[in-house]
Amino acid sequence: MTAISHKQPPPPTAIVIFGANGDLTRRLIVPALYNLARTGMLPPRFALIGVDHNDKTTEDWQSNLKQFLAETLAKNNESLDEKLWQPIARGMNFLKGDFEDDGAYSKLADLLAELDIKDDLGGNALFYMAVADRFFAPIAGKLGKAGLARQDGRNFRRLIVEKPFGHDLASAKALNKCLLEYFAEEQIYRIDHFLGKETVQNIMALRFANGLFEPIWNRDRIDHVQITVAESIGIEGRGNFYEKTGALRDMLPNHLFQLVAMTAMEPPVSFEAEDIRAKKAEMFKAVHSLSLGDVVRGQYDAGSVAGQAVPAYRAEENVAADSNIETFVAARVLIDNWRWAGVPFYLRTGKRLATRSTEIAIRFKRAPFALFRETPMDELDADWLILRVQPDESIRLRFNAKRPGPAMALESVAMEFKYKDWFKQAPAVGYETLIYDCLIGDTTLFQRADQVEAAWGVVEPVLLGWESVAPRHFPNYSAGSEGPIAANDLLARDGRSWRAIK
Ligand code: BG6
Repeated sequence: MTAISHKQPPPPTAIVIFGANGDLTRRLIVPALYNLARTGMLPPRFALIGVDHNDKTTEDWQSNLKQFLAETLAKNNESLDEKLWQPIARGMNFLKGDFEDDGAYSKLADLLAELDIKDDLGGNALFYMAVADRFFAPIAGKLGKAGLARQDGRNFRRLIVEKPFGHDLASAKALNKCLLEYFAEEQIYRIDHFLGKETVQNIMALRFANGLFEPIWNRDRIDHVQITVAESIGIEGRGNFYEKTGALRDMLPNHLFQLVAMTAMEPPVSFEAEDIRAKKAEMFKAVHSLSLGDVVRGQYDAGSVAGQAVPAYRAEENVAADSNIETFVAARVLIDNWRWAGVPFYLRTGKRLATRSTEIAIRFKRAPFALFRETPMDELDADWLILRVQPDESIRLRFNAKRPGPAMALESVAMEFKYKDWFKQAPAVGYETLIYDCLIGDTTLFQRADQVEAAWGVVEPVLLGWESVAPRHFPNYSAGSEGPIAANDLLARDGRSWRAIK
């Protein structure tokens, strides 16, 4: 899969970025290319074509990106290394063009042909759609019509599609249909950046590279699973986007479901992309569709986060003063298969929560406690395995131990592995891995059409239900809290409670 240090540089390729002047290009794609250069994993010969509608020259594009990268590196006390930057800068070409104008695609075809000869790129091209989602279908269609999606067995043409992939089941299906008109499934790389996170990929290593966990990874031993993606940030100036999206669409059928899939999928027979993707797809098929009773929504009020006063969602820029958009969602997900029947997966995610914390917490069943009848139940905290995805990436096992002293008194203790302490480096953010995998044609970490559609299918009844019933008590949680009280009821009715967000 993605152990970059053991891999070869990818083949010569032209990377074409639609949305060359956008935030994603600046913040994630170009830094990822720089990091690939650092590990010697850029294609030995490559071109970087930036397409956007602004009046810019290649020199402007180069210098803007360089300046932003240098500023980002400076925040980590690093300075930009010209030796790494130069090969990227040399490959850059800016092409002014409107994403919906046929003319832009014929210019692109000419430029690709010219660079292909000049730089000997083997006819390979990777089209990266770093643009608003409304452009995905038009760009793919126009690339197709211009003959740019065509592969002849010796070269490759690939398409990277960012999130959001549709806003409900029908739109996801329609988008898949458009993309598949000109590109074959194996040419399409649907990104969910959570899958690029080292800690998320490590779930597979933990489960399948150890004899210890898999035998107890089932309903005989596991009581329930809690998956939390808590954010302390608000909507970061994205009011227009968020008012159309909300927490459920933004996070649940994509990022949180990917964490569920990694935790719940059956072991694949190999690490081949199709074997892994097939197991994930099977898992999604076994997930019950959510009903309104399985979900709780919330919206933040004014409050304080890390000691700073912050406004209510309804007071954010480009947000309606009476907005009913949710900034928090919690759900109770059931997987109807032999491994998981009867083991709820409780998911929650929200903006402006107490702190930033993403974790998968697996709670094992209690021991039969006849031996400890005198010990109050809440002191007999059951065993937990906590996979901390970010920040402070770690894996922690909590279990009971005898407190030193004459009495048989128990205390919950922990063993912990921390990425930073063990590997002496923080885990990578992930875009490097995803771009590299796309360059070498490894689809393991990308979503297949059926997965995306199955995930939308699970949340569809809630989307429809929420459209017809307005939330009653919005805003219903203070910024800086752990979310709405109603989210506690979701677990309380099963006799359980959430772990603290910390
Ligand atoms: C994005 C969402 O996909 O993921 C954002 O649109 C969210 O709203 C972000 O903040 C979270 O990603 P990360 O990597 O910062 O945890």
